[in-house]
Amino acid sequence: MDRIRIVGGNELAGTIPISGAKNAALPLMIASLLTDDTLTLENVPHLADVEQLIRILGNHGVDYSVNGRREKQQEGYSRTINFSARNIVDTTAPYELVSKMRASFWVIGPLLARMGEAKVSLPGGCAIGTRPVDLFLEGLQVLGAELDVDTGYVVAKTKNGRLVGNRYVFPKVSVGATHVLMMAASLAKGETVLENAAREPEIVNLAECLNAMGAKIHGAGTPTITIQGVEALSGARVRVIPDRIETGTYAMAVAMTGGDVVLEGARPDLLQSALDIIVETGAEITPTNEGIRVKRNGAGISPVDVTTAPFPAFPTDLQAQFMGLMTMANGKSRITETIFENRFMHVQELARLGAHITLSGQTAIVDGVAKLKGAPVMATDLRASVSLVIAGLAAEGETTVNRVYHLDRGFERLEEKLSGCGAVIERISG
Ligand code: UD1
Repeated sequence: MDRIRIVGGNELAGTIPISGAKNAALPLMIASLLTDDTLTLENVPHLADVEQLIRILGNHGVDYSVNGRREKQQEGYSRTINFSARNIVDTTAPYELVSKMRASFWVIGPLLARMGEAKVSLPGGCAIGTRPVDLFLEGLQVLGAELDVDTGYVVAKTKNGRLVGNRYVFPKVSVGATHVLMMAASLAKGETVLENAAREPEIVNLAECLNAMGAKIHGAGTPTITIQGVEALSGARVRVIPDRIETGTYAMAVAMTGGDVVLEGARPDLLQSALDIIVETGAEITPTNEGIRVKRNGAGISPVDVTTAPFPAFPTDLQAQFMGLMTMANGKSRITETIFENRFMHVQELARLGAHITLSGQTAIVDGVAKLKGAPVMATDLRASVSLVIAGLAAEGETTVNRVYHLDRGFERLEEKLSGCGAVIERISG
């Protein structure tokens, strides 16, 4: 199994290109199931999760082709991909595929809306909490779906071949359930109003995509989304937004190691609350024509308290990385996780590098130390793994991060991007 070896201590300086957002690319790819026409997506990141979803969609009959000349679309870089679901050949998403990636459960929305039926495996356990699917099921029922849970599968059918628009108030904000209900309602009969909907930029990107395909969606990015159902959707060409989590991750890396880096292609409006917090820690952040410039010279890292919450607040997907940064702050900070229970698996691993962290329920109290020391570490999820990379870059000596497949799920060319800015970081195969 591959490992990442880091020799810490260098400041970061240079330019890091920001890739297309994984969490936007996945729902846009799934939206290709809604039409028999071709959906062309630009800026799709080259990641293990994207490859896995291509396989899952292929099982339903989605063909794909990579656009453009090879020189321009080098292996390992974001690409333009055509997805074409001319014929849906299978409305079942089997356990073997869904259990590998939770987001693949989302195919239930478009399959049901277009085909009038879907049989999708429940996603099963997940390292960062129980993550139930009750909101998806309740919402689809409100749109007229008949549901049954049988031997680990959700079996869904529409009553007269088509979902029917309705009003649904999410009891809790859910990104995935908002994506699914927006897709399902696009082809429903009549109007759907989703209240207390997720407002994440990825929701806005999906709404833009669906509207480009002929849907009639208003209010995405606000808590109330209104969807006028249409009979059919067509193809479109849509660009995946830049990855705000990758942006925040590298910004925190620079805030921790010191240095001066331009995050090329990043959009500050996608993560303003996180950028404000990074500024409070002592880094300078300047929006530029190319993206965002992050700088920290000399000054120490100030401790800042953070609580995760749905967009536009501080994202849970940056919580682990921020904890990495706070391990070297001049004092105590409190980090509270409100989205997922059990999303503190990085705490024990950061402690292996010399961090002082105590847990009290959903809050981690981080007592900053003057220096960290490299060590072998491993993590059990994507964002936790990258928090260890950040800490390793700032630690003295050598850190090896095991289970790199977590990083490959969500960070395009991580070692290359960081070593291009002066970090000593390499992948060791085998
Ligand atoms: C998405 C992101 C993930 C991010 C999360 C929160 C993708 C591929 N993943 O995950 O990176 O961390 O948003 O910003 O975009 N919940 C229920 N019942 C449901 C659905 C969700 O109780 O039916 C709960 C979850 O367990 C969790 C909370 O709601 O506690 C938020 O989850 P949700 O927003 O749905 O996260 P995902 O869409 O899975």
